[in-house]
Amino acid sequence: MDKLLITGGQQLSGTLTVSGAKNSALPILAATILSDKPVSIGNIPHLHDITTTLELLGCIGVDISIDEKLNIEINSNDIHNLTAPYELVRTMRSSILVLGPLLARFGEANVALPGGCAIGARPVNIHLDGLKKMGAEIRVENGYIHAKASRLKGCHLVLEQITVTGTENLLMAAVLAEGTTVIENAAREPEINDLANFLNTLGADISGIGTNVLTIEGVKRLGIENLHYDVLADRIEAGTYLVAAAITSGSITLKNISPHLLDAVLEKLKEAGAIIETGDDWISLDMQGKRPTAVSLRTAPFPAFPTDMQAQFMAMNCIAEGTSTVTETIFENRFMHVQELQRMGANIKLESNTAICTGTELLTAAPVTATDLRASASLIIAGLVAQGETLVEQIYHIDRGYDHIEEKLSQLGAIIRRIPR
Ligand code: EPZ
Repeated sequence: MDKLLITGGQQLSGTLTVSGAKNSALPILAATILSDKPVSIGNIPHLHDITTTLELLGCIGVDISIDEKLNIEINSNDIHNLTAPYELVRTMRSSILVLGPLLARFGEANVALPGGCAIGARPVNIHLDGLKKMGAEIRVENGYIHAKASRLKGCHLVLEQITVTGTENLLMAAVLAEGTTVIENAAREPEINDLANFLNTLGADISGIGTNVLTIEGVKRLGIENLHYDVLADRIEAGTYLVAAAITSGSITLKNISPHLLDAVLEKLKEAGAIIETGDDWISLDMQGKRPTAVSLRTAPFPAFPTDMQAQFMAMNCIAEGTSTVTETIFENRFMHVQELQRMGANIKLESNTAICTGTELLTAAPVTATDLRASASLIIAGLVAQGETLVEQIYHIDRGYDHIEEKLSQLGAIIRRIPR
């Protein structure tokens, strides 16, 4: 297993270009199953989860090629296998996103039940309940979801909880359903808007994009000649590098990112003492060499503070001036980074789903273990300021969601290198 070795003490500065969003690329790649015409997708980040998704699409019979500009050309007209196998689904839960499209276009799908992960049980009951209400026959046995529907029927859905991939699965099912589907209490994350815009470009009829109520008029088919679509920039990658600069009292500029994708994160960084300037497609942060001020936060669905940024801010709060509380309301076990940060000298107390952090002047380097994607980012961020050399193990987690992280951090002046197994 590869490891990352970080030598703390460098103040980050410089400019970075933000990659495409993992959580936008994954549903959009799944949505290509719906198109009866080839489609080209661009701005795809170079991540392990993308590779897994392409492997999964290949396994069901999608024809995939990559052009010289790293655009992915996809042709879904020879799909011959409607099963997403356990050996792939268990490595990436978001494989569940092929369920809606396969069912909508081919009337059948067999998808291995995604298990939980480090951050929570992560059930998919809302996905399945919605598909049943749209007329699908769903059986769960031997660890697989077996779904069948001659043609899904539009209906009025009120989701019992805001779910990102649940909204995405049901949206992709509805675009080819008969009649009108209304999805109330839909998630509003920017990645959902990106998926909906992509589907409308293919010929779908979705309205209410960006709101909690999506209305979909089912159409008979999807696909247009010579379509190329670039996925949205990654707001969580952008937020992660902004926090990495803030914890080191540095100053960076990010390009190819709209600031409106992460307003709540930018507000918290200003509260931490950052000078934030923005343009249509760039964000700059300047700490003016100062130690950050501790900021309290509470995660919630978009447009509130994103759960995927919680671990990164926790790392910053560990060395910030003052005491802060971090409350996680989305996942039941998303504090796995706390015990690792405590090994670096962080003063954090856990009370149910709230962490109370008292900032210390310094952290000390230690060998630490990554447990999930954003926890890995948190440990790397802490390593940037810890005294000495921090060794982060199990970094396959980080490779799932961050494109060339050590190159990008080195570009900003960090001393970080990958130690191959
Ligand atoms: C998406 O996960 C993201 N993944 C996650 O990013 C992100 O943390 C999460 O949304 C919340 O924003 C992708 O988009 C691929 P949810 P998802 O369904 O859709 C409960 C990362 O770091 N729930 O919105 O799986 C669930 O248990 C990853 O990039 C049900 O109870 O999350 C959770 O408590 C981590 N039943 C809450 O809803 C369901 O059927 C929100 O989960 C579905 C969800």
